[in-house]
Amino acid sequence: MLFRLLTPAIHALDPERAHRLTIAALRALPLTGQPKPGPLAVELAGLHFPNPVGIAAGFDKDAEVPDAMLALGFGFSEVGSITPRAQGGNAKPRLFRLAEDRAVINRMGFNNGGGPAALERLRRRFKKPGIVGVNIGANKDSPDRVRDYAQMAAMMAPVASYLAVNISSPNTPGLRALQDEAALTGLLDAVIAARDEVCADAPPPIFLKVAPDLEPADVDAIARIALDKRLGALIVSNTTITRTQLRSRHQGEAGGLSGAPLKPLALQRIRDFRMATGAAIPLVGVGGISSAEDAWERIRAGASLVQLYSALVYEGPGLVRNITRGLERLMRRDGFASIAEAVGTE
Ligand SMILES: Cc1cc2nc3c(=O)[nH]c(=O)nc-3n(C[C@H](O)[C@H](O)[C@H](O)COP(=O)(O)O)c2cc1C
Repeated sequence: MLFRLLTPAIHALDPERAHRLTIAALRALPLTGQPKPGPLAVELAGLHFPNPVGIAAGFDKDAEVPDAMLALGFGFSEVGSITPRAQGGNAKPRLFRLAEDRAVINRMGFNNGGGPAALERLRRRFKKPGIVGVNIGANKDSPDRVRDYAQMAAMMAPVASYLAVNISSPNTPGLRALQDEAALTGLLDAVIAARDEVCADAPPPIFLKVAPDLEPADVDAIARIALDKRLGALIVSNTTITRTQLRSRHQGEAGGLSGAPLKPLALQRIRDFRMATGAAIPLVGVGGISSAEDAWERIRAGASLVQLYSALVYEGPGLVRNITRGLERLMRRDGFASIAEAVGTE
């Protein structure tokens, strides 16, 4: 309700300024507690998620408010992407609201305060309950990107519920080439070795975040590697560089498109990866989810968990509780006793 009243004022601001104010407000508000496990609980890669709805990477790039997001009702928080060294990202403006399309275009370029600062914050909250995944990336000017990912895996493994290896941002030139078969195998070997060196017992599972803009052969290769490397999950997907019919005046901006127009593509990729992995690797569905119906459709298509970001811009923080309440209703309506039972049953 409060968000609805404030929306016109928030949307009158430059989007990046509005985002900074939102993070500041989340830091200042006394938001505590987190969802209790109930009918929506999901077990995946050895982790116990109280519900399947997470906040996607990019909202809390510097791990400033993971616990506030859990307090709002998210079943898990993914922070990042975080790179070894702090970097400013691309020139502004680089974040655009496409209100008529319920979409966002961003070309932020991994702006973040760097690994050590985020690590300090994550260390301070580490004893608290709640699933906080750490999404890792490489510095734009790095001479050795694989080394950056390995360094981040070693740094964050002790404080992460899971590590999300992000090779799918369209805003760091050349990054998505790491999705190629040989490059990806080498990258994951380096990340797994780095993680295992610091966490001999109970190492956090590794999730891999992929782009939606993949050819069938890419999907097959990634699926094979995910199985071979025993990844905890695939996160499907990041933003798209393709453009559908859009109406907003910002439609021509370069960068990754997210929100409602991404929904059909991200949904199709969940189906593709379920098929390609023979349902043997859990999937996290992301892209254009803005309602319980959207989340349910993604689960029925094969996702064990879902994440969202762009819809928060338009719907506000009450959205997550609407989705979790709605999911409980849809689960009962369709006669399922758990989320796991419903995965891939479309
Ligand atoms: C402003 C913005 C910044 C993002 N930054 C990151 C990032 O740093 N790392 C990442 O893996 N994904 C990032 N994403 C992608 C989201 O995590 C998500 O995959 C994508 O937006 C699709 O979900 P949505 O349609 O619910 O927004 C970003 C998205 C937006 C809108």
